[in-house]
Amino acid sequence: MRAFYNLGTAAMRLLPSETAHNATIKALQLGLGPTAPDETPSALVTRVGGLDLPNPVGLAAGFDKNAQVPAAMLKAGFGFVECGTVTPRPQTGNPKPRLFRLTEDRAVINRMGFNNAGLDGFHGRMAVRTGSGIIGANLGANKDSDDRIADYVTGLRTLWGLPDYFTINISSPNTPGLRGLQEAGAMDELLGRISEARIELTGDKPSVPIFLKVAPDLDSIQIERITEQARNFGMNAIIVSNTTIARPDTLKSGHRGQGGGLSGAPLFEASTEILREFFDAANGSIDLIGVGGISSGAEAYAKIRSGARAVQLYSALVYQGPGLVMDIRRDLLARAKADGFETVADAVGAD
Ligand code: FNR
Repeated sequence: MRAFYNLGTAAMRLLPSETAHNATIKALQLGLGPTAPDETPSALVTRVGGLDLPNPVGLAAGFDKNAQVPAAMLKAGFGFVECGTVTPRPQTGNPKPRLFRLTEDRAVINRMGFNNAGLDGFHGRMAVRTGSGIIGANLGANKDSDDRIADYVTGLRTLWGLPDYFTINISSPNTPGLRGLQEAGAMDELLGRISEARIELTGDKPSVPIFLKVAPDLDSIQIERITEQARNFGMNAIIVSNTTIARPDTLKSGHRGQGGGLSGAPLFEASTEILREFFDAANGSIDLIGVGGISSGAEAYAKIRSGARAVQLYSALVYQGPGLVMDIRRDLLARAKADGFETVADAVGAD
């Protein structure tokens, strides 16, 4: 069966990137994805930002922008699946081509620009969801919005009660100005309005976790300040990180000059370094989720040892297919055991 998926992944690589992605979503909708064993070893169980996860390996946002296949990805063995980014109104995104495989570099550059079908359809699909498993909704703002902060609040209000958690994505490089929401004043207003809406929506029920997703292109002063603001406004975790606008000198592919966000292997070091800085700044006061360049158990484990309570990945699926998640889970268990930890969660921040 594994050979079948590898073959499928190899065949997909021959197609233009976006066509291949759409074909993958179709195949998953038809039930052609892999099936992980039902039992998950208790040594993989973890807790992040108030969520109990059966295992710490999550699917990062951008793979399932329209919440079409979260159940299939949970079935493949992910411990949690983040759908979106979804914006209030549907939008087409940037002109194609806008997704590039940098095969020699095991990397991807994308400038999709939040192409998505909007909140209404997303809501409809989440509302009929069946089965268990942790599904998050990653919220964004429309490119032509007059009040971008209001778009995040609309996302919360529209979807409230459906996802297990929300992510406030202020770190995509492909919506001009969006990352400006990471600046001090803008973040104060954004997180202030989000917490107000959250208090009202929560009432006397248990609150739904809200995470903040940040860029990797931040300095130490920004990291300290963002951590403090996120904590003060009651965010439950910080997701470190989105794609980078940097272009390391090591890139070989002819696509390296394309505009957009770089992800995959060349993002690993930088995103793990700022994860460490967030871990130092947080000092245990807010949980972290590590993302960026994970393509094996070794990298997932390095993020965990650097302070991530859970990890997410996307780009490596382009090269290795969804069977990768089971390999990472197995390898995480072996690595934690070899280091003398009873559970993978015991290794969090060991470095
Ligand atoms: C992304 N990513 C992303 N992130 C997000 O918050 N909202 C989004 O809509 C998208 N869209 C998106 C599209 C494509 C094609 C890629 C490759 C990535 C970023 C993604 O969630 C993740 O943070 C980075 O890609 C880094 O992880 P990997 O890919 O190196 O494992």
